[in-house]
Amino acid sequence: MKDFLYYRHCRHFPMLLDLPDKCGGTDLSSDVFLLLVIKSAPSNHVHRELLRKTWANERQQNGVWIRRVFITGTRGSDFEKERLNKVLELEHSQYKDILQWHFIDTFQNLTLKQVLFFEWMERNCPKARFLFNGDDDVFVNTNNVVTYLQSLEDNDGSKHLFAGHSMLKISPIRTPWSKYFLPVQVYKPAAYPPYCSGGGIILSGYTASVIYNMSQSIILLPIDDAYLGMCLAKAGLGIQSHQGVKSFGMDVPSKHVNAHDPCFYKELLMVHRFLAERLYYMWHSVNDPNLKCFGNIKY
Ligand SMILES: *[C@@H]1O[C@H](CO)[C@@H](O)[C@H](O)[C@H]1NC(C)=O
Ligand SMILES: *[C@@H]1O[C@H](CO)[C@@H](O)[C@H](O)[C@H]1NC(C)=O
Repeated sequence: MKDFLYYRHCRHFPMLLDLPDKCGGTDLSSDVFLLLVIKSAPSNHVHRELLRKTWANERQQNGVWIRRVFITGTRGSDFEKERLNKVLELEHSQYKDILQWHFIDTFQNLTLKQVLFFEWMERNCPKARFLFNGDDDVFVNTNNVVTYLQSLEDNDGSKHLFAGHSMLKISPIRTPWSKYFLPVQVYKPAAYPPYCSGGGIILSGYTASVIYNMSQSIILLPIDDAYLGMCLAKAGLGIQSHQGVKSFGMDVPSKHVNAHDPCFYKELLMVHRFLAERLYYMWHSVNDPNLKCFGNIKY
């Protein structure tokens, strides 16, 4: 906490790896329908490889473009830091999907990472229509996300959208040993404004721009998803709960059904915390044209 407080006013960090042409320039960036913005720690090389091969694959889906960036900082000291930076550099030159800033990538610095990303977007990808913003250990049915976004009436990304697993009247954790600890001296209110769990959020380009603008006058807080809620509250905007986003895993109706039945996942947008081999299996299963699901599964 001391460390966080010491650095919370610092918002400008040099970029180690940049992708200024990711969205094809300011004007062409409107061709990016869905930008996947995935928070990834430098050491999560294996997760990134898997996501590139599965749901985060850059492609045209239903006639629109999906693009991907991993957002990251630095970790480790001396040789380890050098090695991790080299890995990221190699990935960056091979896949063109790494944005790296020179700050220490810790849980408390996730808000900083988020704000730095929105600033990058404002500069390099201002007209992207929608974003998925989430963790690198989630399963996202990006096909469904595109279908859902295309089904929105009169929102082409230029109106407010902020949807996910809603978190309402959540109180800050006041126990010092918790990862989410926030002393009253740092944040006084008894509850956060409404926000969506940070594992996976779907938002419009418009809302990203509003959040960035609001963040300029809101001091950083170490809980990144609650911070986004504060930015929205300041702008007078609400959040939307989406049934298809399962930030705390799936509730499978009974012990007798297979919790990894692809039919449960076929209609969802996102599920948190997936082991690598399950994620690989699930992505291939939900995309299998021969997958047969009977009836509507109720969640
Ligand atoms: C956040 O990043 C800064 C810059 O690298 C670092 O000095 C600070 O220790 C980090 N804060 C936390 C809480 O990890
Ligand atoms: C954010 O601020 C900039 C600069 O003041 C402004 O041009 C832009 O329209 C704002 N964005 C939104 C969505 O309000």
